[in-house]
Amino acid sequence: MDNRSTPTPAFDMVLFGGTGDLVMRKLLPSLYQAHAASLLNEQGRLLALGRKAMSRDDYLALVEKSARQHVKEHFDAAAWASFCSRIDYLQVDAGNAAHYPALAEAVGQHPERVVVCYLATAPNLFAGICENLAAVGLNRPNVRVVLEKPLGIDLDSSNAINDDVAHFFKEEQLYRIDHYLGKESVQNLMAIRFANALFEPLWRREWIHDVQITIAEDLGVGTRGDFYDGTGALRDMVQNHLLQLLCIVAMEPPASMEADAVRDEKLKVLKALRPFSEQDVANKTVRGQYKAGAVAGQPVVGYLQEQGIPADSHTETFVAIKAEIDNWRWAGVPFFLRTGKRMQDRLAEIVINFRDVPHQLFSGPLSGSHTANRLVIQLQPEESIRLYFLAKEPGDTMRLQPAFLDLDFYKAFKVRRADAYERLLLDVIRGKLALFMRRDELVEAWRWVMPIMECWQNSSNTPPKQYTAGTWGPAASSALLSRDGISWHEES
Ligand code: BG6
Repeated sequence: MDNRSTPTPAFDMVLFGGTGDLVMRKLLPSLYQAHAASLLNEQGRLLALGRKAMSRDDYLALVEKSARQHVKEHFDAAAWASFCSRIDYLQVDAGNAAHYPALAEAVGQHPERVVVCYLATAPNLFAGICENLAAVGLNRPNVRVVLEKPLGIDLDSSNAINDDVAHFFKEEQLYRIDHYLGKESVQNLMAIRFANALFEPLWRREWIHDVQITIAEDLGVGTRGDFYDGTGALRDMVQNHLLQLLCIVAMEPPASMEADAVRDEKLKVLKALRPFSEQDVANKTVRGQYKAGAVAGQPVVGYLQEQGIPADSHTETFVAIKAEIDNWRWAGVPFFLRTGKRMQDRLAEIVINFRDVPHQLFSGPLSGSHTANRLVIQLQPEESIRLYFLAKEPGDTMRLQPAFLDLDFYKAFKVRRADAYERLLLDVIRGKLALFMRRDELVEAWRWVMPIMECWQNSSNTPPKQYTAGTWGPAASSALLSRDGISWHEES
């Protein structure tokens, strides 16, 4: 899967939504970093589209202003200037078919060049854009289309978008992006599982007690209130990012790292997820909403006081779920999923809790401690793997202490930190589909969250559980685990 050294072919990348948040904050800064690291083909061009009439110079000024804030590595003025020579701006209203011939002309007819159309727009525009692209021949085999999430708001709307898009593009031309799959630790988890004989024999119900996957954010909804209130944490984070992480933890070793071999195994996991009954939704899920509190010592308002949020909104900003996978490897092993905004810290991690030893030889408070026998794969803020165990404290008494082995990928390998979007954009240009979602994965992921969503919608009289901003979520979240005799990693 490591394709660092594979050169990218010559390409034209068309950025729909060229003046939007995603292009400004993520895509162009990531492409700049790839450029500065000499990873982009010299013949690579970027064509940003927007509805506004704007000169190329004005567009570049806008991009530079935002890049200076969002480029994470050192911002190098000379590298920036050469990066800008790749960028052009074209006034195109994505919904207006009459604007597409000019786009086709700007892209030109070069079968040897890859054309990437990145749809960083609202999903209700996807079908129209694909139709308009096809009408001017921009669905030929060398064209790839990147679809941003959210792909629909439920199973039906997602199916409708995918059906529409499939009229004009083949499945192998479609790159459904989930940026969590581009994070270093996620790919490293696959390497650690499948390149070493050490973990795989233990990676099963006989040895693993439970798995905890957390994506916690300290930020609130910020200026995205309008979008977020119609979405909520279940659609925004669980249906995609959390389920994709669960798949990487739970999948069987694929026969190869080819895209379909990997995606087939992930699909099997999604299909084996136990469906939720109404009773399960009541017992095994928690939905929360933050109220005013403090984050990093600063007072912050509650969700209902955020800009654009109706005062009686029941939209969840926190979700915890006990998921179960009905197959031989995982029967009886709970997978606890949790995500929330305005939590105590920004933290994304996968925690594998191994079972206790079958017989305790050592007495004392730490024997059988749940803090040991634990593997923690951290995605954020650091990208690392930490193995916790009990060891004897040196000295003449048999005193056990928790200890850990720690591997911080960037410190250990002393390489440049690459953003998830940078890695995934390079994969699109190189035609590597393994880290993108296939349509059937998306269908299964929606199918699994639908009963939860519907139960929450039907219980409109029951508001989500409140939690104070700057904490780890509602008390019910801790209670969800304590019923299994355990606690969340940071509470133990
Ligand atoms: C996005 C969600 O997909 O992921 C956002 O729409 C969320 O609400 C973001 O903030 C989190 O991504 P990251 O990489 O910052 O953890």
